[in-house]
Amino acid sequence: MQSISLAERTNALKQSDIRAVTQQVNAVDGINLGQGICDLPTPEPIRERTRQAVTDDQSIYSHYAGIAPLRQAILQKAQSYNDLPATDIDEVMVSVGSTGAFVTAAMALLEAGDEVILFEPFYGYHRNILELTGATIRYVPLSGPGDTLDTEALERAINENTKAVIVTTPVNPSGKVWARHELETLLDLMQQHDLVAITDEIYEYMLYDDHEHVSLASLPGAYERTITLSGFSKSYNVTGWRMGYAVAPPHLIEKMGLLNDLFYICAPRPLQHGLLAALEDLGDEYIAQMQSDYAARRQMLCETLEAIGFDVPWPEGAYYVLADFAPLQATHDGFENDKAACQTLVQDAHVASVTGRSFYQHPEDGRTKLRFCFAKELPILKQACTQLRTALA
Ligand SMILES: Cc1ncc(COP(=O)(O)O)c(C=O)c1O
Repeated sequence: MQSISLAERTNALKQSDIRAVTQQVNAVDGINLGQGICDLPTPEPIRERTRQAVTDDQSIYSHYAGIAPLRQAILQKAQSYNDLPATDIDEVMVSVGSTGAFVTAAMALLEAGDEVILFEPFYGYHRNILELTGATIRYVPLSGPGDTLDTEALERAINENTKAVIVTTPVNPSGKVWARHELETLLDLMQQHDLVAITDEIYEYMLYDDHEHVSLASLPGAYERTITLSGFSKSYNVTGWRMGYAVAPPHLIEKMGLLNDLFYICAPRPLQHGLLAALEDLGDEYIAQMQSDYAARRQMLCETLEAIGFDVPWPEGAYYVLADFAPLQATHDGFENDKAACQTLVQDAHVASVTGRSFYQHPEDGRTKLRFCFAKELPILKQACTQLRTALA
């Protein structure tokens, strides 16, 4: 068939390696620690309220920024947990996942000629969505747990075209949690250069070893130049429901809301009613339990990776480990680079991971790294750890 010429914006888009590795691991009936898919059950109160919403036939479009009670509940959460100075539901927009909110934020702010700062290792969707806006991305390294922001590198990346900066905390893939002093330094530069931040705080409740989640927008003077994004996917095990939100000053939310209306009309209405249960019925106890469950999983996976020879920066937050297999290269075959190592683990341990190159502008920078996700049912994670230990004994 004659090929049709497509828009230039699609040129850089390609299927990520993750899907191919998923197929390979499925073919050997293995365990997928690659994709950031959480296989834990959705809490019953959320399912119950959603069933009720369907029974009550809550089926027509909602307001494009979401139903008022959900926006109100998100506003209260943003005030109490994130310490944001938001005061009204016109500062809250519900969208189709935090990804939907990210798309509207990026489209509202950025266009060709603008520059945007992205820290690496980065989350691939951020890079690809930013590319679609036509803006130029400047990459600034931010290694991982324990490492601090390189202020000089950040300053070098800023010029008169820089408009925005993307801040993910906790970071997927490295597990770094931004410290308050780093956010203060960033804010200083944002104010000097008149920049806006889009934050992605989807892992805000997944914290270890007393690490504190600080929202950039809670710092004095930051709220007016920050779009804060989060969502329900990760904290409430509803990744497939596609429900997330943005909190920002009203003039930003107004335009983002209009874009949200254009792209999606609204987030799925019965699920909006159902997720009220997340904010109203599942309180501190639920979060504390989740944190201790993930801490146990983190320990199991990190100890396993260390035992088989990886260099493991233990994540401070989120549910991924970006581990370095360089020490294994001297003792094992099949670890020449990240692609080879990923293949070796699928073949020998029947465990999937993600190649380090997926998180860097230059594939070389992720050459000796693999990302593992530990959001798995405990017996499955245990089995994966056993398989890794057996294969690399
Ligand atoms: C950093 C980050 N942001 C956003 C998402 C997706 O969030 P949502 O399901 O709310 O679109 C993910 C999923 O892996 C993620 O890792």
